[in-house]
Amino acid sequence: MNYQRWKKSLFSYCLMVFLPLNTSNALADSFSQQEKQIEIILNSLTLEEKAGQLNLIPIEGEPTAEHLQLIRDGKVGSVLKANGVANNLKLQKIAVEQSRSGIPILFQEDVIHGYKTIAPVPLAEAASWDLNAIEKSAAVAAREASAAGIQLTYAPMVDVSRDPRWGRIIEAAGEDPYLGSLVAAARVKGFQQGNDDPNLNILATVKHFAGYGAALAGRDYNIRDISERELREIHLPPFKAAIDAGVSSVMGAYTAYDGIPATAHRYLMDDILRQDLGFNGLLMTDWETIPNLVKSGNAEDTKQGVELAISATFDMDMTSQQYLEHLPNLVRQGKILEVKVDNAVRRVLRLKQQAGLLDNPYSRFNLDREQQELLSKQNWRDTKDITLKSLVLLKNENNILPIVDSVKHIAVIGPMAKAKKDLLGWWHAKGNENDVISIFDGLKAEFGDKVKLSYAQGVRFDKFNNAGTELISEAVALAKQADLVILAVGEQFWMSGEGGGTASLHLPGSQEDLASQLATTKTPIVTLVVTGRPYVLTDVVKHSDAVVQTWMPGTTGGEAIAEMLSGQFNPQGKLPVTFPVHQGQVPIFYNYKKTSHPFDPGPNDNRYTTSYRDISHLPLYPFGYGLSYSSFAYSDLELSTTKISESETLIVSVSVTNTSKLAGNEVVQMYLRDQVASVTRPIKELKGFTVLPLEPNETKTVHFELTSKDLAFIGPDLKQLIQPGKFTLMVGGNSVDTLNAEFELVK
Ligand code: BGC
Repeated sequence: MNYQRWKKSLFSYCLMVFLPLNTSNALADSFSQQEKQIEIILNSLTLEEKAGQLNLIPIEGEPTAEHLQLIRDGKVGSVLKANGVANNLKLQKIAVEQSRSGIPILFQEDVIHGYKTIAPVPLAEAASWDLNAIEKSAAVAAREASAAGIQLTYAPMVDVSRDPRWGRIIEAAGEDPYLGSLVAAARVKGFQQGNDDPNLNILATVKHFAGYGAALAGRDYNIRDISERELREIHLPPFKAAIDAGVSSVMGAYTAYDGIPATAHRYLMDDILRQDLGFNGLLMTDWETIPNLVKSGNAEDTKQGVELAISATFDMDMTSQQYLEHLPNLVRQGKILEVKVDNAVRRVLRLKQQAGLLDNPYSRFNLDREQQELLSKQNWRDTKDITLKSLVLLKNENNILPIVDSVKHIAVIGPMAKAKKDLLGWWHAKGNENDVISIFDGLKAEFGDKVKLSYAQGVRFDKFNNAGTELISEAVALAKQADLVILAVGEQFWMSGEGGGTASLHLPGSQEDLASQLATTKTPIVTLVVTGRPYVLTDVVKHSDAVVQTWMPGTTGGEAIAEMLSGQFNPQGKLPVTFPVHQGQVPIFYNYKKTSHPFDPGPNDNRYTTSYRDISHLPLYPFGYGLSYSSFAYSDLELSTTKISESETLIVSVSVTNTSKLAGNEVVQMYLRDQVASVTRPIKELKGFTVLPLEPNETKTVHFELTSKDLAFIGPDLKQLIQPGKFTLMVGGNSVDTLNAEFELVK
């Protein structure tokens, strides 16, 4: 039965069974109508066609004759890699009109932080702490991707990471499960519901389940051995938040959890993901993870790999085609129950239904819309908004920023000054470097004829950080002539992202040398750090008057950076990840647990503490840190009561004053410490934040609410537990400089 035929059969079924509908049960009926549609399609499929629905294949560029035949044979359920409306429509027509089953293809892609108009990398977006802006940015990505014929993205990635050596730290929201959860939910909402026209939204995939961010020693795909407690405390909350926000699908991790690869991990997938976290959508493998089970020595052959994956409730096989190859025979041989395959097919069909493909397989493929949406003015505006908000001002000695009128000559120096592709980051879908505003071009547009801009590259570096220093002297000579140096350092786009592990956290090549030699000129230096991860900036900071962590800021990057430097935009970003003072401190993160030998900043003679002999173990910049051109003062931290019961709500109030002459936004943060508990608790945990706009000299009072739910933790039996006792509350503009108060939870 092809598409037209099962559509017809559904129509007559509805006429028989559901008419007339009355309004009170209309919703339930529409739900069951949808399920009927799925059942009718499912019942029309052969075993081979069912396996075909679970088969996700990559087609980059022109499809081969083999690809087309697979589609005609009903052996392709989904396609990944973006080929635009015209190409995707051709494939869709073959699936719908030439295959026996007639089921439309679901087109999928890595739309990680934008499709054509590229937003800052996800770690940067998290630095905005602005959930509305983050949601809007995901809505831009959805508009462009859907207009280009894609219905599902492999984002958001929500893997919490405490190790900047790991290249994929760039792709998620940093080190904190609470911030990570809110960002995850905002991104899911933005992708799936961010646009009024449902045809402009796409399905989201939260990934990689679970614990991938804890890869040992920062090497991608490496094993890691985390306890179930750490899994539940640190790594699962953002997945839970994405699921509660209605995410459509989940992708499993490349890595193993507790010795068993995620792709074969029934406890992780069925018990934890589906039962505990309540996920009932589609679960897909990552790229080739079924054959990977053979490589890692967990399966004899791919046939056994398929048995393991389907038993672990994986519905869709990304790229390996092993479900297609083995599932039908495994069912025929009685090794796998057909109902398992049916359930997986149901979940695939539901996504196709959600995307509107079952009702109209072609409505999402519109060439005019594709043209209008890509790089539209609105998309540029929304993207620039998040780009501005993601910039983090780390240092601003003597208020050297914003740039004052007396500056008439700026020497723009460094390997990132004219870079374009490097501003896009590793995953940039169809982002094109020709559309990117470089830092140099952004400054030129911002300052026009008022300021002379000159340029020197300063250093070159290659894959292994080998560097020439021959360009440094030219840069130094230029710096001597200028009133100000803008030094743009960083890493190239391919240096972070998947497989982008680094052992050294010093900026690649001779960029630190460049900074130190420029400092000898005494010309003031503003350093821009274009990276997808925290680097050890200790030296660079020492040699600079101001430092901005710009991350990889995307297509509008140069424009946004220039607007911040000129003072048109007042920075408000805060770090979503700790910046180490030395690479030996890694992993370093703010919410570490208390120990028997409490932390002493050191270095000193206090030997028996959790510290280093040679350096302090305080970070260079703590989690939540970031400056503004305004200054803010915190006062009057008040609690509505000092004793609350489990059913009460505690109101926390704090006054924040803008003590400067410039309007600005401050991210007010609230942290909590549980003083005594049956499980060792972190020294502090983020529990709330708000972005507070303040006019010059204005004071506002911020209120946060805390209930016993916020005081709960994962008890000895790995279940949520609320335990009476004392707590310390901390409120401030970062995780270290806080006002503190105490209260008690009583029975
Ligand atoms: C990555 C995924 C990505 C997939 C498809 C894999 O290598 O781990 O995050 O979505 O490729 O491109």
